[in-house]
Amino acid sequence: MKKQVIPVTAPLRGQIEIPSDKSISHRAVMFSSLAKGRSVIRNFSKGADCISSLNVCRKLGVSINYLDDKTIEVISDGVLKEPAAPLDCGNSGTTMRLMSGILAGQNFNSVLTGDESLSKRPMKRVIEPLSLMGADIASNDNKAPLTVNGKKLHAVDYISKLASAQVKSCVLLAGLFADGVTSFTEPVRSRDHTERMLKSMGADIKIDGNRVSVSKSELKPLDITVPGDISSAAFFIVAGLVVPESEILLKNIGVNPARTGIIDVVKRMGGAIELLNERDEQGEPVADIRVKYSKLKGCEISGADIPRLIDELPVIAVLAAQAEGMTVVKDAGDLRNKEADRITTVVNALKLIGADIEEKTDGFVINGKTELRGGCELETFHDHRLVMSYYVAGLICKEPVVIDGFEWSKISFPEFETLMENLKGG
Ligand code: S3P
Repeated sequence: MKKQVIPVTAPLRGQIEIPSDKSISHRAVMFSSLAKGRSVIRNFSKGADCISSLNVCRKLGVSINYLDDKTIEVISDGVLKEPAAPLDCGNSGTTMRLMSGILAGQNFNSVLTGDESLSKRPMKRVIEPLSLMGADIASNDNKAPLTVNGKKLHAVDYISKLASAQVKSCVLLAGLFADGVTSFTEPVRSRDHTERMLKSMGADIKIDGNRVSVSKSELKPLDITVPGDISSAAFFIVAGLVVPESEILLKNIGVNPARTGIIDVVKRMGGAIELLNERDEQGEPVADIRVKYSKLKGCEISGADIPRLIDELPVIAVLAAQAEGMTVVKDAGDLRNKEADRITTVVNALKLIGADIEEKTDGFVINGKTELRGGCELETFHDHRLVMSYYVAGLICKEPVVIDGFEWSKISFPEFETLMENLKGG
């Protein structure tokens, strides 16, 4: 579906509630499926990715019911059942990678499949550590479909070259079913929702710097309200900073320090961003975020910043095009392995609308501030974050842009356009 984005002529103003965090929703439904009893998950994501996780858990014999529009109950006897058919992970890397860890140690076989984009993404990163634990996983040259033949697993002390919450979670989840103490060490700390949630469910989990260890544990049911997703809020943070005279209040956003890289970058660029009403909800920090149109300056984004804002880099590129001077993004080579190659695609799209951006192997360099001209069509390669990043760019172009594949925003943020409309002329 093609969507024409008309440049705005008035500020974006008002207050909105950002929908549920995708990472936390995935984990909540998967982990409560492993717990004996009844779990309740409020504000569960309506994004297609989290629905893929929910459907996979149902196919593994877990009873999941909607109590209202956004609340689910998960009723499990703590033991998964052999699925009758392949488990479709759709577009969701998180579903496939975390489920492979859960399934590797079961006493049955299962097959994980994905859509065209997911079937091209690298799975060696999970097959390798799981195999070291004794798992038996057949793949299509280290890509999906993955046939997971359940085995008795043993612990591993795995040192990962990649800082990846998906790989870390996969190994820790397999560790719940393995003999001995399983450890995962990463070069830079990635998001820690798995550690926090497993701990709150009674797992025997220990954290020592960049090393996390877990041993066989029984999980207690979960009772959780999922906060708003900072990765979804990012589109509104950037829109508020670049559309003249805007001021937006974003309510109930998860501000786990492993996810707030974008806030630090906005501050580094001199942007007006404030956290209000900071609080803690079930082990996850939550706050409201106020953002105002700002004069920005370029900055460097690298090293330990990267895992803390990995999914926000496409929209940060739009922000950087509106900052005076040079912004350098480096150490972000894994961006090429997301739903699309988010380095080449972003560089090509931003060049097309008039930004001064240069591709590097592990990132990009942007020289701002440039007036974005638009007046073209942008391809989005079935990638939800590209869709919404280009939409934000379209708001400040001189001429309308047409976004191809707009419907892919449903993967993480079906409510995106309605919320943006609410702020226009607010
Ligand atoms: C996620 C981790 C990140 C992120 C993805 C969600 C998670 O991936 O890009 O959208 O929920 O664990 P990597 O762990 O591969 O960096």
